[in-house]
Amino acid sequence: MQINELLTNQNTEEAAWRALERSIIYYQGRPVGTVAAYDVSTEALNYDQCFIRDFVSSALIFLLKGRTDIVRNFLEETLKLQPKERQLDAYKPGRGLIPASFKVLCDNGEEYLEADFGEHAIARVTPVDSCLWWIILLRAYAIATKDFSLAYQPEFQNGIRLIMEICLANRFDMYPTLLVPDGACMIDRRMGIYGHPLELQVLFYAALRAAREMLICQGNQDIVAAIDNRLPLLCGHIRQHYWIDINRLNAIYRFKSEEYGKTAVNLFNIYVDSLPYYELDKWLPRKGGYLAGNVGPSQLDTRFFTLGNLMAIISDLATEEQSQAIMTLIEERWDDLVGDMPMKICFPALEDEEYRIVTGCDPKNIPWSYHNAGSWPVLMWMLAAASVKTKRTNLAAKAIEIAQARLGEDEWPEYYDGKKGRLIGKQARKYQTWSITGYLLAKELMANPSYLRLVSFDELPPEAVSRACEFEIRSVEPYIS
Ligand code: GLC
Repeated sequence: MQINELLTNQNTEEAAWRALERSIIYYQGRPVGTVAAYDVSTEALNYDQCFIRDFVSSALIFLLKGRTDIVRNFLEETLKLQPKERQLDAYKPGRGLIPASFKVLCDNGEEYLEADFGEHAIARVTPVDSCLWWIILLRAYAIATKDFSLAYQPEFQNGIRLIMEICLANRFDMYPTLLVPDGACMIDRRMGIYGHPLELQVLFYAALRAAREMLICQGNQDIVAAIDNRLPLLCGHIRQHYWIDINRLNAIYRFKSEEYGKTAVNLFNIYVDSLPYYELDKWLPRKGGYLAGNVGPSQLDTRFFTLGNLMAIISDLATEEQSQAIMTLIEERWDDLVGDMPMKICFPALEDEEYRIVTGCDPKNIPWSYHNAGSWPVLMWMLAAASVKTKRTNLAAKAIEIAQARLGEDEWPEYYDGKKGRLIGKQARKYQTWSITGYLLAKELMANPSYLRLVSFDELPPEAVSRACEFEIRSVEPYIS
């Protein structure tokens, strides 16, 4: 590396730390979170709030740097915002939910926090991911501080329990996955991800694992039993039904349809004509594979969603073989998935009629922009974590190098547009906190691979998974190694 380049990188990093410092929100004199973006050049809308999902990468960085107080304050304050009583009013947030975001307000000199559960958000979207990220973060805090006593406090035990109750409640469908509305996660706009989108299933899995580690069994036997029951079923279901590689595509291509009863192989009655199978045939590398975006009745969304795939590796939801295959796919399809800015939120974009129908003509989500296959620097930390986990660190190193050539100079945009991610996002905020922390965290994870333990999980006992699969999958060919 040239000396000039080294200096630029050092400057980029220093600028990133300064920008992160400036993003911290104080409440009653204590640091409690970070704003989504500190961009004075444009109207704040809700970017001056602390979003739960956005704060995760800030929190992990703070934990690594020993600034655990901010994370503890955040966990305590957000827990207070969680509704504890059953609400009969449909316009009130359900018991157990954690808000999408919060901000500090002042009344008569008295500061208080106002939460947004989606009732203020554009299109009134529900933040299903917040409560899942909250549990994942609580565990990361316990691991980083080597102190589970916060998680063991009665209020925290109750908070975890309420989240588990809302996730594990009986619903109308009989899938182990979570049925959710559109735009309930990082993609918080209509993008055709209602039903059983990968991102939320993976976060659900990681939250179940984290809750299982933190819940004190006494008094929670019912929830613990429900988690133990759900985990292997969910894991088997995702590994089997969401997996796409060339072998699986071959099987799907020759699927029979309209199968009735217990011996059905094509369980969800997927019609191959609904899939872009010729494009996939061309796009799928010989060895790579990935988890599909969504699976439901006669529905297989074959778009590649980055957060779900990377978190599936990190949380050990994907098998070792699948994890390697996902990384191989990223390597082989680098231009499509990473290009000039790591990395695409999903691929490919919805275009033409599909864009119009699925997004509702959303001008922010035009093809190759924002949620519709834009490039999001925050995803870099997950790429780094997945690279460390699969020992494919050359991929993250290359991605970081690409990003640091531009991110600082471009003032940390929220996202980039274009097929290769060369254009600063049309409506992207500058000084977007999770773009800053996505970069910093990726560097930290690469320098200290042991930090991965904050967010990763070990394998579920294989007997548990195979038992569950026998029970659920019946006569389908085994895709679980
Ligand atoms: C956008 C993103 C969402 C993020 C929020 C704040 O709405 O889609 O994921 O949490 O901005 O940065």
